[in-house]
Parts: sequence; structure tokens; C-alpha cells
Amino acid sequence: MRKKYAAGNWKMNKTFEEGQILLSEVVNMVGDELTNPNVQVVLGVPFPYLSSFSKLINTPKVALAAQNCHPKPSGAYTGEVSVSMLKSVGVTYVIIGHSERREYFGESDAFIAEKVDAILAEGLTPIFCCGETLSQREAGIHFDFVSGQLTNGLFHLSADAIKKVVIAYEPIWAIGTGVTASSAQAQEMHKVLRDHLASKYGQEVADEISILYGGSVGAGNAVELFSQPDVDGGLVGGASLKSRDFTDISKSFP
Ligand code: G3P
Repeated sequence: MRKKYAAGNWKMNKTFEEGQILLSEVVNMVGDELTNPNVQVVLGVPFPYLSSFSKLINTPKVALAAQNCHPKPSGAYTGEVSVSMLKSVGVTYVIIGHSERREYFGESDAFIAEKVDAILAEGLTPIFCCGETLSQREAGIHFDFVSGQLTNGLFHLSADAIKKVVIAYEPIWAIGTGVTASSAQAQEMHKVLRDHLASKYGQEVADEISILYGGSVGAGNAVELFSQPDVDGGLVGGASLKSRDFTDISKSFP
């Protein structure tokens, strides 16, 4: 059975003190209430908090993610953080290819593909984001566009390697807008992506890869979204900043 994920992306929110409170609430609530052993909670928190937060997490139900990394192992890259640095402070997941990084920081598919390799080389798990704009959807090119993001970012990997990647489909028009893709729209895209993976790697490999949905996931819509056969959880922005909502999301799997 594929692993299910409730992954939070705090983005650039919370001071250190606020973050500590939120973290301890989530760790306690998830520790007490999450009983499904197949669900992994992941928290993508700001870089400066990773080291101390990793010492505060006392349950394997919760893992830490960075929200970005640089693909090079070390060197003259002022302001950047390597995967080995993240690993050295207890990080096990790295979110990459988020539409905000693609758009505001000009990150290309090729650069994101380098990050995938660097993350896998250190034995961490990439959470590879993809998703179309509203105009791409309206033009009817969304399936091809998002499939292309997978081709360009991931299809250089071996079958063994791609099984270690988590994919997050985040339609850009649904991010932070309160407009969620319907469960049918999410399922439709996830199925297209799984079929695309199967066309390259075979069905068995495709069936092992967790594909998360992101874009205005909340405690009120997670049950419906997560009940779809190809939706393996969520990458949650705004609602991950509220411990009760986020914990409820982690308990929304069938
Ligand atoms: O990475 C999560 C994300 O972009 C979705 O954000 O606030 O719509 O849940 P939000």
C-alpha cells in the first residue's frame, strides 16, 4: 500500500517562538490522535528552525522537511543551503519545484532535476511539486504541461530512484486562493500523472509513488480529496499553520 502524507508547508510564516508553539501542538496532537500507521506527517518549516525543531520531535509520526535546497554539495553559493547540511540537522524531506520558487526565483525544470538528484544522493526524500496555471487549464493544455514537468524533472531517474520521490500536484490557481480543485479534478490529474509514470516505468512502479494534492486543502475538504483513489494525501499551506486543522487533515484518510 502506498504511503499517505499530511505534509505542511509553512512557507515564510511564524517567528521562531510562534513556530515552536505550533510545532509542539502538532507533535502532541498527532502523537495522541493519529492512529493510522500508514500516514506520515511532514512539516516544512523555515530553514533557521530546522536544527532545533528536529530535537523537539519525539515521534516518528512527524518528520521535518526543508522548503528548498541547493543542488551543489558545498562551495561559494552565498545564501544557499545544501542537502548534506539539511541532513546533518535531522531533515528527511525536501520540498522542491514549488510554483512560488519556479515563478519568483526563476527555477527551471533542469535546476529542479539537479536538486532531485542531490536529495536522493543524500538519502533524503524529495517532495517534487508540479502544477498548471489557470490559463493553461483554460487552454486545455494542463495535462500535457504537468506531465511535461514530470518528464523534465524526474524521468532521468531509474525505476528504483523514482520510487523514492513523493510528487505533489498543486494547481497554481488553487494555491492560497480558497479555490480548491474539486476532488474529481484532483483525481483526474493524479490519474493522468500516474498513467504517465506507468508509461515510462511500468504500472507496478507507478503504483508505488505517492502523489499528494496541494491547493487550499483544509479540514473541511480533506476527507473528500483523500478518498480519491490516486490522491495520497496533501501538501498543505495555510491550514498547516493551525494545529487543530492540520491534525484533523492528518486524520482524514479513509
Ligand atoms: O505547498 C502548499 C501550497 O502551495 C498550498 O497552499 O495555502 O493553498 O494550502 P494553500
